Amino acid sequence: MTPANPISLNFLRALPKAELHLHIEGTLEPEMLFDLAHKHAITLPYPDVASLRSAYQFGNLQAFLDVYYQGVQVLRDADDFCQLTQAYLKHARADGVVHVELFFDPQSHLERGIALVAVFDGLTRALDEAQRESGLSYRLIPCFLRHLSADAAMQTLEALLPFRDRFVAVGLDSSENGHPPSKFTAVFERARAEGLLTVAHAGEEGPASYIWEALDLLHVARIDHGVNCESDTALCQRLAESRIPLTVCPLSNVKLGVFPNMAAHNLKRLLNKGLNITLNADDPAYFGGYLLDNYAAAQRELNLSRNEMIQLARNSIEASFLSDADKQPWLRKFDLEGFPD
Ligand code: ADE
Ligand code: ZN
Repeated sequence: MTPANPISLNFLRALPKAELHLHIEGTLEPEMLFDLAHKHAITLPYPDVASLRSAYQFGNLQAFLDVYYQGVQVLRDADDFCQLTQAYLKHARADGVVHVELFFDPQSHLERGIALVAVFDGLTRALDEAQRESGLSYRLIPCFLRHLSADAAMQTLEALLPFRDRFVAVGLDSSENGHPPSKFTAVFERARAEGLLTVAHAGEEGPASYIWEALDLLHVARIDHGVNCESDTALCQRLAESRIPLTVCPLSNVKLGVFPNMAAHNLKRLLNKGLNITLNADDPAYFGGYLLDNYAAAQRELNLSRNEMIQLARNSIEASFLSDADKQPWLRKFDLEGFPD
């Protein structure tokens, strides 16, 4: 059957896009995972790349996180973080990403004795190089692991503060159910007192009440995922009126069983209710696609129009932590540019 709105990859690629929900550790492809395991003499519980890749069948978030935290173990020095980020940036540039806000999980590295300076140096070496070469801009957002304690998050914030000028916001990720945003009120308050912006994963698997908490207790500038807002009419109205962005990750949601398939995803309904929806890749090495794949799959399966795709890309620029002045050249492109068919 021919879709009613056939839209080319060239068109989607040409849209200036910001990637706002991307865990750099989730860009670790099996090939690099094996290379780094070899470099550091780490024995993996899989004989080869193909068997590792075939283990990427996840019924839920926790099943994914178990595999993801195992993969992270091969990242040991600044060169590893640099190599990982360079590989991601190749995809980003090929996909028409003009700005990236990159998550990382400091606690998964600190607990293995990896110094934060190695993580920051590796990430920024690759990001600064891409910025020099192609103008791609970036921000960093370290996330607290919500399955660990609030005290551990506070200690992590203390450890991050010497690097305060290298990141703009803090986030909250990992196992959602049973770990509500309210557990982290104090650490987010402290982060805001330091002038940091805040974001949080909420309403991915967890209930709409976690989204309320993220808004009212953590004072987030964006909700990561947020798709479970739909059951709560007052919440949808609040999100639409405030224009607080949701960084939605379509392929991730299908891979983790949040929706049974892409055609059942609610992002089009939310967009049409006036919510500020952006599309993102989350953990592309594990979920079968980078940002352009997410745009293409959502467009195809939900029959999104050209105007809806333009709106999603525009939302991503507007929802970014770029200054208003730095957003303007990208936003003008949506008004002026004839994008390819
Ligand atoms: N960490 C990496 N990816 C995540 C996701 N989709 N949800 C929660 N924590 C994560
Ligand atoms: Zn995420």
